[in-house]
Amino acid sequence: MDVPPGNRELVDFMRQQIATHGPVTFKWFMQQALYHPKLGYYGAGRAQIGRRGDFYTSVSVGRIFGELIAKQFEEMWVRMNKPISFTILEEGANDAQFASDVLSWTQKFSPELHACLKYWIVEPNPKLQQEQQAMLSTWPRNKVRWSPSLDSFESGALCGVHFSNELLDAFPVHLVASAGGPWQEIFVDAAKQGFRYVYVPPSNSQLRAALDRLPVPALPPGVREYRTEINLAAPRWIEDAAKVLGQGYVLTVDYGYPRDAYYSPERTQGTLATYREHQRGDDPLVMVGECDLTAHVEFTSLAERAEAAGLRLAGFCDQHHFLVGLGEGELLAIERSAREMTPDLLHFIRSFKALMHPSTMGMAFKFICFEKNVRAGDKPLLGFNRCSDGRAVLGLPSLETTQEPYDPYAAM
Ligand SMILES: C[S@@+](CC[C@H](N)C(=O)[O-])C[C@H]1O[C@@H](n2cnc3c(N)ncnc32)[C@H](O)[C@@H]1O
Repeated sequence: MDVPPGNRELVDFMRQQIATHGPVTFKWFMQQALYHPKLGYYGAGRAQIGRRGDFYTSVSVGRIFGELIAKQFEEMWVRMNKPISFTILEEGANDAQFASDVLSWTQKFSPELHACLKYWIVEPNPKLQQEQQAMLSTWPRNKVRWSPSLDSFESGALCGVHFSNELLDAFPVHLVASAGGPWQEIFVDAAKQGFRYVYVPPSNSQLRAALDRLPVPALPPGVREYRTEINLAAPRWIEDAAKVLGQGYVLTVDYGYPRDAYYSPERTQGTLATYREHQRGDDPLVMVGECDLTAHVEFTSLAERAEAAGLRLAGFCDQHHFLVGLGEGELLAIERSAREMTPDLLHFIRSFKALMHPSTMGMAFKFICFEKNVRAGDKPLLGFNRCSDGRAVLGLPSLETTQEPYDPYAAM
């Protein structure tokens, strides 16, 4: 076999670890491939997002994404009775383009909110933090603050919204498989030149508990193995976010599915994918450290853990419907005004279509939002106005059957 293309130093480091300690979990392998501080795809600052990079995100499509979501933040602030200090905490901010788009929009179109607004970025990577500081250098120093992890905040410190776009799909996952019998975990071993998979019994109790809840799949005819991923980091992360949030919302955007669809019998190869120069690949053992490596998000487990941690689901739907809810007024106004097509307007419409198109970003990306200590409105949040019942889609029990109507002010 040829030497697998990839970062030579990183491959050597991983093979050395395997030679010393034996085969490693796929989670460890993915952690190094993405976040090894000197050699990983993100850790080394090799990740390039956008037209000249490896993949697009909604943020990289244009400032309209941040501007529309800023409208959603504004409504959240109003629903919270306009607190005089309202913070957006973002994780996975990359180059801080989204932060810049939100701050510019509020300054121009929502000055009252802007005056109350603080922006906190959680960024463990010092190089990215520097890039973000350069991007946001024109904003007053007291407006934006950085922290290396969510742990650095006191419990309940956040009044506002925790936001992330494509954060959870970048969390390292465990890889598991079944040949119709009990689940096995897939580890990574060294091959003659590169790496190969080996099958072992599930390596830790949390993984075993997660697998206990997954039915052993019935293999479709002709299929020898059902392979999938378990993301244990995402439910842990929502617990941390719930702890930091005193009052407000957690809004996260990512590609993924409710549990039934994620683990449907037909999805026999899971969702792991690599991205390099806008080409999707399906072998994580090649181009190690040179490409993005990602797995879809399973939203039902995330929502269950969120609600167990004191959050309440505020909505779940695809990006298409969420952005219609936020942007339809604006589009209608453009249409009615019959304004002349300026390059700016044309860019707005093109970006909006790219974000919304059902065959590209519109259906793949999902918005999930949780709330805490905010009075439930009569209507859903603006972005969820055009969506169906998120609880039902996720397979969560309806609120009426599970608990008393929630009124955080009842005891005050
Ligand atoms: C796919 S990129 C998305 C970047 C950006 N949000 C966007 O939409 O363009 C994922 C980002 O999440 C970051 N990330 C992953 N784990 C993180 C963590 N625990 N804390 C903060 N950032 C993290 C990665 O470094 C990377 O910048």
